[in-house]
Amino acid sequence: MKYSEKVMDHFLNPRNVGEIPDADGIGEVGNSHCGDIMKMYLKISGGIIIDAKFKTFGCAAAIATSSVATELIKGKTIGEALGITNNDVINYLGELPPNKIHCSLLAEQSIKAAIKDYYTKMGVDPIAIN
Ligand code: FES
Repeated sequence: MKYSEKVMDHFLNPRNVGEIPDADGIGEVGNSHCGDIMKMYLKISGGIIIDAKFKTFGCAAAIATSSVATELIKGKTIGEALGITNNDVINYLGELPPNKIHCSLLAEQSIKAAIKDYYTKMGVDPIAIN
């Protein structure tokens, strides 16, 4: 399997790795097939994602797609972040091997899970938002 230069860059130099201790929303998702886990931390102010960090216990593609996901959502509104799909992450990276597409899905799901957690903490029913 060969990864693109961009995937290797985000795998070897992942952006925004770590935790946000006072995060407004935290989303953890996993893939039961491969066992990889992705945790996304968001800082949200005035409806804008002002900071995003992640911790991923997973493959190179999972780390690269988490890194890209954080880059894509920083500075975006909650609505814009909810609209980001795994295809946006793949397009940003150029390409992903077919058997690694599911890794990019974790990135999309972790954003949505963290925003859902944010709404829950705010006392808003996330289902009413979607
Ligand atoms: Fe499971 Fe990449 S192999 S997330």
